[in-house]
Parts: sequence; structure tokens; C-alpha cells
Amino acid sequence: MTFLRCFGFLFLSCIIARINPCSNLPFTTPTESDLESSLIRSSLMTLNLDGHFSFDDVHHAARDFGNRYHFLPCTILRPESVSDIATTIKHIFHMGPSSALTVAARGHGHSLQGQSQAHGGVVINMESLNEPAMRVHAGELPYVDVSGGELWINILHENLKYGLAPKSWTDYLHLTVGGTLSNAGISGQAFRHGPQLSNVYQLEVVTGKGEVMNCSDNQNADLFYSVLGGLGQFGIITRARIALEPAPKMVKWIRVLYSNFSIFAKDQEYLTSAKNTFDYIEGFVIINKTGLLNNWRLSFNPQDPVQASRFNSDGRTLFCLEMAKNFNPDETDTMNQEVESLLSQLSYIPSTLFLTEVSYLEFLDRVHISEKKLRSKGLWEVPHPWLNLLIPRTRIHKFAEVVFGNILTDTSNGPILIYPLNKSKWDSRTSVVTPEEETFYLVAFLSSAMPSSTGTDGLEHILIQNKRILDFCERAHLGMKQYLPHYTNQEEWRAHFGPRWESFVQKKSAYDPLAILAPGQKIFRKAISFS
Ligand SMILES: Cc1cc2nc3c(=O)[nH]c(=O)nc-3n(C[C@H](O)[C@H](O)[C@H](O)COP(=O)(O)OP(=O)(O)OC[C@H]3O[C@@H](n4cnc5c(N)ncnc54)[C@H](O)[C@@H]3O)c2cc1C
Ligand SMILES: *[C@@H]1O[C@H](CO)[C@@H](O)[C@H](O)[C@H]1NC(C)=O
Ligand SMILES: *[C@@H]1O[C@H](CO)[C@@H](O)[C@H](O)[C@H]1NC(C)=O
Ligand SMILES: *[C@@H]1O[C@H](CO)[C@@H](O)[C@H](O)[C@H]1NC(C)=O
Ligand SMILES: *[C@@H]1O[C@H](CO)[C@@H](O)[C@H](O)[C@H]1NC(C)=O
Repeated sequence: MTFLRCFGFLFLSCIIARINPCSNLPFTTPTESDLESSLIRSSLMTLNLDGHFSFDDVHHAARDFGNRYHFLPCTILRPESVSDIATTIKHIFHMGPSSALTVAARGHGHSLQGQSQAHGGVVINMESLNEPAMRVHAGELPYVDVSGGELWINILHENLKYGLAPKSWTDYLHLTVGGTLSNAGISGQAFRHGPQLSNVYQLEVVTGKGEVMNCSDNQNADLFYSVLGGLGQFGIITRARIALEPAPKMVKWIRVLYSNFSIFAKDQEYLTSAKNTFDYIEGFVIINKTGLLNNWRLSFNPQDPVQASRFNSDGRTLFCLEMAKNFNPDETDTMNQEVESLLSQLSYIPSTLFLTEVSYLEFLDRVHISEKKLRSKGLWEVPHPWLNLLIPRTRIHKFAEVVFGNILTDTSNGPILIYPLNKSKWDSRTSVVTPEEETFYLVAFLSSAMPSSTGTDGLEHILIQNKRILDFCERAHLGMKQYLPHYTNQEEWRAHFGPRWESFVQKKSAYDPLAILAPGQKIFRKAISFS
């Protein structure tokens, strides 16, 4: 057992091993630390809450989708009201720097590198927070008020009862509002509507001082924009007001293949900038190797051209353009004409056109089907060394040439998504960092590692490949920014934020001066002083 002294705000370069997760003084003897832990316990137990703390079964809060980082918290708070969250944070804030207790909101725990964990701290199980009850407001500018711990799939179900739905999504809906708004929330609708954080009217936030504040574009605007894309650093989102639109009943879902990246990218960019275009545009890279993991996003239908192998790629890398057009049954003819006209502008390999029609719900919840399939084979709860990059448009060809041509030549360990986004739909006042150019691509390497494999599908191999991709971006000065960014020291975070770093630090000191919140992001470190 090593106890290292860690001094100074903001530095992470040392590791503290703790005997008991509730003990928070890094250089006490075990007996003192047990005492400390029972003091923390009893001090938290004195709080008057609607919900409760659990101290015993804390192991699940030391897991996430990434399945690589495991930090045990001291306790899990299951809040039943916003004031439970405020009371807890205020209590910890008033303990000051003599306590190392930190607080992590845990949405659905689908982060990848421990971002929703709190070593020795308090994890707030946001899904327990059921207030406010979800309320849909129809009218000119329809919106829904939801809890920050609400899952997007539940929001979809509730809104569909009123014929309404949010405008911008993620590919997978078993994620929480607070979790995706703290990042951005990107999917095939973002080129039109912007990411999810561009479609929020108002938030209620509990700051790192335990204050409950409403914020929006015209009330506490600085807090509002800080929290959006803020990686949980400035406050806990307890409720959100989300913009809605009329929901279509049906979706025409289309896939076509390309073997030439330039032509693929040209068509994608044409479609994302065209008027009266598709409602959803994504794309992915198919490195020819069959197998469930490689194709889990593809395997939605046995008639799919890739699945059915009606098209022989001869081992070449292929690019699949995926599009969807929303419609209601009485508009089928017009929709078909519009689709036909858009497709006629494209240069895909003609024999690869694949079309289907599904309900809007089925379309949006499509990844859940793959999840069930992978779960049944024990392939869902494996390590996920994902890498998500934003690449400026003018450098995407170089990126594709090197990454798909040299680095990932004969295999991929999961889907690789690639599609353009329009910066004008991203509010520059939010905390999220994007590349400089007007158009940039999301490139997502969604790898799964086979437990205990030492081969090309093993964790080690995939991490090395990820590193090669990152090193290339650095060497070639691509102006890449990570999405769902992960860094382990402050120099790297500073580089990630670039000229915006100073303002990020200044906001941190305004809203969470003791650095209590979201320690798993490893951006700031709580200052501890012993007197
Ligand atoms: C299968 C899968 C598919 C995905 N697809 C997409 C996609 O298409 N597009 C996309 O953009 N992302 C996607 N993601 C990434 C996803 O948006 C992030 O992993 C997100 O963090 C997960 O949300 P969560 O609710 O599980 O949050 P958590 O992992 O629980 O939390 C993430 C971070 O936000 C903080 N946080 C959580 N709740 C709150 C809150 N209420 N207030 C303040 N901070 C909070 C946490 O402390 C943590 O730092 C996907 C992830 C998975 C696993
Ligand atoms: C925030 O606004 C909602 C209504 O929009 C209100 O119910 C709530 O009490 C407000 N919270 C604060 C802290 O003002
Ligand atoms: C891809 O298409 C572009 C534009 O038509 C062409 O210049 C290029 O040579 C093609 N690349 C390959 C590998 O065929
Ligand atoms: C980005 O969106 C703006 C605003 O809708 C639009 O004017 C512009 O043409 C778009 N750019 C591209 C490259 O799609
Ligand atoms: C993959 O490549 C092999 C030849 O290397 C070919 O026989 C097979 O049909 C290809 N699969 C697809 C889906 O193109």
C-alpha cells in the first residue's frame, strides 16, 4: 500500500491508494483512516434527505461501459429530490478542503474511462431522481421538462403519445439527459439541428457550492453555456427543458456503398448542405472482415447489401452512406419522389442500394436491437476502448488515407462511424470544443475488446492502434479535437481547450471552487489541506 502526498490544486500526477474507500486522508494510518471513514459516514447520515445513502453495495458505481477503470466510491446517494443533491453538495462544500470527498453524477454509467466514478467519494445515482415528473408542453414552440437523470428512450416514448419528439438524438437512447448534455449528444440529425446541447431551452443546475439555479439564454446565461458540454465540471443538471417537433410516423432508411472515399465524402457533404435533404445522415467504414462485432450496426436486416454479400468488395475497404427521410403514411408519394431525386445526385455503386421502411421509434431505437444480440452472446460487457475524433473537413482525406489505408488495414473491432457536421449549428458559447473549420467530421472507432485475448481483438492491440491514430493526428497537425475527450494530465487538457482554457478554469473557480464535481474527468483535482 503506497500513500503519496499530492499537493496543489489541479494536479493529477500521483495516485492515491486507499485502504477503505471512505477514508479520504491520504496519509493517515489505517486506524485513523477507519476513524475518518466512520466520521464521514456519520456526518453524511445526519443529513435530512428524501432519498438515502447506501454504503454497502457500492461496487456497481465503480463500473462503466468502457469497463477499464474501476474506482470504488465511499457511498451512493439515491436522491428523491433536487434538494437531496443540493443538501449533500452543500454539506461537502462546507467541510472545505479538509475533506477529500468528491461527487460524481452518474447518469447511465455509459462513459468510457471512469468519468462518472468518484474514487472514495459520493456517486449520485441520477436515475433515482424522478422529479420533476416528465411534462410535455404542446403549442407553438413545444418542449418537455425532464429530470437530468431521465433516459432519452423514456423521453421518446412519453412524447410520442402527444405526436411530438425531440429533434436531435444519439445513436443509442439508453443514455441520460445529463450525461449527453455534458458532452454534446451527436447523431445523424446534428448536421441540421446541431447536437442535443443546441436543442435545450433551460436547465436547472446544482452547482459545486450546493446552490440550485435555473439558467437559460436569458437567465444566468454564463452558467447555462458553461454546463452545456461542460463535462460535469460546473454543476449537476437536475432538470432540462428540451425543444420538440412534430414526430413523423415512419422513416425511409437507406444505405448505399462506395469504394472510393473521396466520392463518398463528396456525396455526404453534398447531402448535408443541400436544401430539402434527408433528415438523418451518417456513414461508416467497412473493413472487410465478417463477424458480429465488426458489423453490429449493420446487422439490422438480412437483406442488407453488406450482410447478404450480394456485393463482393474483393477485400477492399468500403464506405457506407446511411440516410433516412421522415414521413407520414399520407405523404409516401412525395417522400419517394424526393428520395429518388436526392439519390439521383449521388455516385454510389448502383447495385448496393438498400431501402427499407420502419417506424420512427424502431429507427431511433435501432442500436438497442444490437445491444440485445450482443448481450445474449456475452459480448456487451467487455472492455470498450472507444476513440471519438472530430476532424476538420480539409484534412479528412489525409486522415482517411492514412488511417483506413495504413493503420487499420485488415480489421476493425467494431463499427467505425464517419459523417460531417456543420459548426454553425454549434453554439460557440458552450463548453464543448470543436475544430476550427466550418465543417468537421465525427469519426468514431467503437471497438470492443475480447476479454483475455492477446490477438488483434485484444485490448492491448486496440489501445496501440488508437495510439497510432492519435499520434498520426498530432504529427500531421490535423487540428483534431477529441469528442468524449479523455486525458490523464492537465497539460493535455490545456491543449484540448487551447485558447479557451483560461476561461474554463475561471468558470470552474466560480461554480465549483473546491473542485468537488466530476473528478473522474481528471481535469481538476480537489485541493486538500490539513491543519
Ligand atoms: C452504446 C453507446 C452509444 C453511444 N452513442 C452515442 C452517440 O450516438 N452520440 C453521442 O454523442 N454519444 C454517444 N455515446 C456516448 C454517451 O453520450 C456518453 O458516454 C455519455 O457520457 C453517456 O451518458 P450517461 O448518461 O451514461 O452518462 P455518465 O456516463 O453516467 O456520465 C458522463 C459524465 O457526465 C457527468 N454527468 C452525468 N449526469 C450528469 C448530470 N445530470 N449533470 C451533470 N453531469 C452529469 C458524469 O459525472 C460524467 O462525468 C454512446 C455511448 C454508448 C455506450
Ligand atoms: C426553476 O424553474 C422551474 C420552472 O421552470 C421551477 O419549478 C423551479 O422551482 C425553478 N428553480 C429555481 C431554483 O428557481
Ligand atoms: C477516387 O475518385 C477520385 C475522384 O473521382 C479520383 O481522383 C481518385 O483517383 C479515386 N481514387 C481511387 C483510389 O480510385
Ligand atoms: C451550415 O449551416 C448553415 C446554416 O443553416 C448553412 O447556411 C450552410 O450552408 C451550412 N454549411 C454546410 C457546409 O453545410
Ligand atoms: C470480403 O473479401 C473477400 C475476399 O478477400 C470476398 O470473398 C468477400 O466477398 C468480401 N466480403 C464482402 C462483404 O464484400
